[in-house]
Amino acid sequence: MEYSIKSDSPAKLSSDCLVLGLYLKRKLCPTTAAMDEALGGLLSRLLKRDDMEGKPGQTLLISHLPEGKIERILLVGLGKREELDAANYRKALAAAAKSLKESGAKSAHVALPEAEVGSHGLPWKTRQIVEILESAFYRFTQLKQDPNNGKPPRLAKVCFLTASPDQGAETELGISQGKAIASGMNLARDLANLPGNICTPTYLAEEAEKLAKHHKKLKAKILDESELEELGMGSFLSVSRGSRQPAKLIVLEYHGAPAKTKPYVLVGKGLTFDAGGISLKPAANMDEMKYDMCGGASVIATLGVVAELGLPLNVVGLVPASENLPDGNANKPGDIVTSMAGLTIEILNTDAEGRLILCDTLTYAKRYDPVAVIDVATLTGACIVALGRHPSAILSNDDALCAALTSAGEKAWDRVWRLPLWDEYQEQLKSNFADIANIGGPDGGTITAACFLSRFAKDFKWAHVDIAGTAWKSGADKGATGRPVPLLSQYLIDRAA
Ligand code: BES
Ligand code: MN
Ligand code: ZN
Repeated sequence: MEYSIKSDSPAKLSSDCLVLGLYLKRKLCPTTAAMDEALGGLLSRLLKRDDMEGKPGQTLLISHLPEGKIERILLVGLGKREELDAANYRKALAAAAKSLKESGAKSAHVALPEAEVGSHGLPWKTRQIVEILESAFYRFTQLKQDPNNGKPPRLAKVCFLTASPDQGAETELGISQGKAIASGMNLARDLANLPGNICTPTYLAEEAEKLAKHHKKLKAKILDESELEELGMGSFLSVSRGSRQPAKLIVLEYHGAPAKTKPYVLVGKGLTFDAGGISLKPAANMDEMKYDMCGGASVIATLGVVAELGLPLNVVGLVPASENLPDGNANKPGDIVTSMAGLTIEILNTDAEGRLILCDTLTYAKRYDPVAVIDVATLTGACIVALGRHPSAILSNDDALCAALTSAGEKAWDRVWRLPLWDEYQEQLKSNFADIANIGGPDGGTITAACFLSRFAKDFKWAHVDIAGTAWKSGADKGATGRPVPLLSQYLIDRAA
C-alpha cells in the first residue's frame, strides 16, 4: 500500500473513495459536514433514509454520486463522541476496511484521524488505520497454484486528509510507524502460516539472515548443534534429538546505540512443529502446532520493525528453533537432562518442550548484560483456558517491567494480563530425581511453566509473555495474527522516546 497526505478541501478532490466519519445520531465529523454541504445535504438525507445512525461498526457505502470527481463515499460510524475509545475506533476502522475491500476501490482518501479518540494523538490515530488496513488486506497465497485466484486488483493507494498542512509531520510519523509494525506483523504471519515441512528451524534461520541483509544495523548469527553442544545446552538439544531437522539458535543483534549501551533482549520460542514427542498430542487440530514458532517469528519480525524505524537502542533477538517429534532418539518421560545453567531437569512430559528450549536460551541471554529480557512463547494450552484469546498472559519478576509492557500493550492494542508468579507455585516443580521437573501438574499450568523459566532468569529483569491464545486464530479464518509484534514494537518505541 502506498500512503500520502493532503490538506485540500474534500470537495475539490478527485477520489475513488472518500472515507468519512460520523458519531452517533448522525453527528458529522468536520470533513463529513463540509462534504455534506458541498453536496447540498445529500449525505444527511441518505443517512436518514438508510437508517444509519453512526454506531461503531456501521458503514454506508454511497456509490451513486452527482457528476463530479468523487466516485464513492464511505461513511463510517464511530459511536458516541464521548465514548469513542481505542476499542470502538478500531472496531469502526475494521468495518471500514472490510467495506473498502468489498467496494473494489483502488485508492481512497481517509479523513478518519480527525475523530477524537480519548487522549490519543494524530500519530496514534493514523497508525491504527495503517495497521488495520494492512491486516485486512493481508492474504497468505504463496502456496496456492493461482495466488491471485482471479480476484480484481485491490486497494493500492491511501491518502490521509488533514485539516491543515502543519499536521503533516504527525501524520507522517503515524504512517511510518504503522507501516513498519504492519510489515512486521505480515512477516510474522507469513512465517507462522508456512507449514512445518517448509518452515523448519533451518528455514527460520535463513529468513533471519535474509532480514539482517536488508538492514545495515542488523546482524544475524546462527548457532548450530555443535556450538550448542559446546555451550552445554543439554536441555535445548534434548528436544531436537527426536527430529531429523537440526536445531538452530538464531541470534539477531540490532546496533542502534553506542556499543557500551546495554541491550534489550527478546527471546522467542521457535518450535517449528510440536507433535508432543513421545507424550504425543491427540490428532485433532494437531496441524495448528505449526504455529508453535509464533514467538520466534514475532521476535525476528520485531527486530525488523526496530531496524526499519532506526530506534536508538541496542536490541538482541534470540530464537531457539527446533521440532518436537516422537522418535527412537527422542526424550522419554523420566529422562533427566542437564541445562546450560547446570540445573538438572526431569522430563515428566515431553510435550512440555517449550520451556526446555527456552531455559537454555535465557541462560545464554545473560552474556549480554541486558536491561531486561522478554520471552514470548506459545507455551501452554492452560493460558487459553485461563484468559481466552484476547490478552496474552504476562508473568514477571519485576513490577516496573510488567507495568511498562502492560501500558505498551494498551497503546498498541495488543494487550497482556498479569498472572501471579508466587513462590507457592514453585513447590509444584519438585522432582524426586533431578533439581526440577518440567511440569507442575494440572493446576495453574501457565504459572508453573513461568515458574520453571524463572529459575533461569534470576540474574536480570525478566518478563514472560504466553501467547498461546493470541498468536493465531482457529476455525474458519484460521491463521496467524502477527501478535505480539505490536506489543514488543511499542515497548521498544517507548524505551527509545
Ligand atoms: N505448544 C504447546 C502449548 C499450546 C497448546 C499452545 C495448545 C497452544 C495451543 C506446548 O508445547 C505444550 O504442549 N504444552 C503442554 C504443557 C503440559 C504438558 C504441561 C500443554 O499446554 O498441554
Ligand atoms: Mn508441547
Ligand atoms: Zn510447544
